[in-house]
Amino acid sequence: MLVLTLHVVTLVLLWSPSVPAATVHLYVSPTGSDSNDGRQVSHPLKTLSHVVDVLQTDGIRGNTVFVEMMKGYYDLSSTWHFSHHVTGTVVFRAYQGQEVHVVGGKRMPSSLFRHVTNSHVLQRLPQVSRDKVLELDLASAGITDLGTLTSYGFHIYTYTAPMEIFINGKPLQLAEWPNNDFINIRSTPDGQHGLKFTYNDTGNRDTHWAQETEPWTYGF
Ligand SMILES: *[C@@H]1O[C@H](CO)[C@@H](O)[C@H](O)[C@H]1NC(C)=O
Repeated sequence: MLVLTLHVVTLVLLWSPSVPAATVHLYVSPTGSDSNDGRQVSHPLKTLSHVVDVLQTDGIRGNTVFVEMMKGYYDLSSTWHFSHHVTGTVVFRAYQGQEVHVVGGKRMPSSLFRHVTNSHVLQRLPQVSRDKVLELDLASAGITDLGTLTSYGFHIYTYTAPMEIFINGKPLQLAEWPNNDFINIRSTPDGQHGLKFTYNDTGNRDTHWAQETEPWTYGF
């Protein structure tokens, strides 16, 4: 009986090289470098995905780890995956209460926006809007995967929300007419089950969009 107990104790010691668990601080900063070891505040790591890898390395794994996130924006270029194999406690926190943002979108400087100059595009717009509409070339801003725009909301269960643009934290609305509410159908020339309807276009806007190949309507 006594021998068996000793065996168990020996096994536990052999298999847990970091007993007792130490407390480790890993520093990460948007201005750091993933070739640093991240163990000192002066030599922080750079990316959160690399932090997750480092959690699995000898000397870190199994300890109580405080990931000290230093101020700034951590822009994620892909989904940030956490492993369920991490043993021990890992706490991600803002280092000394600094302002930290973990951002899945892409931040773009307002200087990338330009006034619209393409005459085909301009002629779709009401005269009063033409010098107010701005455009941004997403490809030149490094965004090439535009996703797919689908209907969503109101009991339409799409799996991925379409790309959105936020300005100063506020989401922009997709341009549409009318901006609010709906217009009423005026008539259905081919009958109730036909595929045509008419409506009152008070400003004659739709004639400007006659060349549009993918018009969208939404109604009920
Ligand atoms: C369309 O405009 C006409 C004339 O102003 C009006 O009598 C009618 O009610 C309008 N129809 C709809 C569906 O808004």
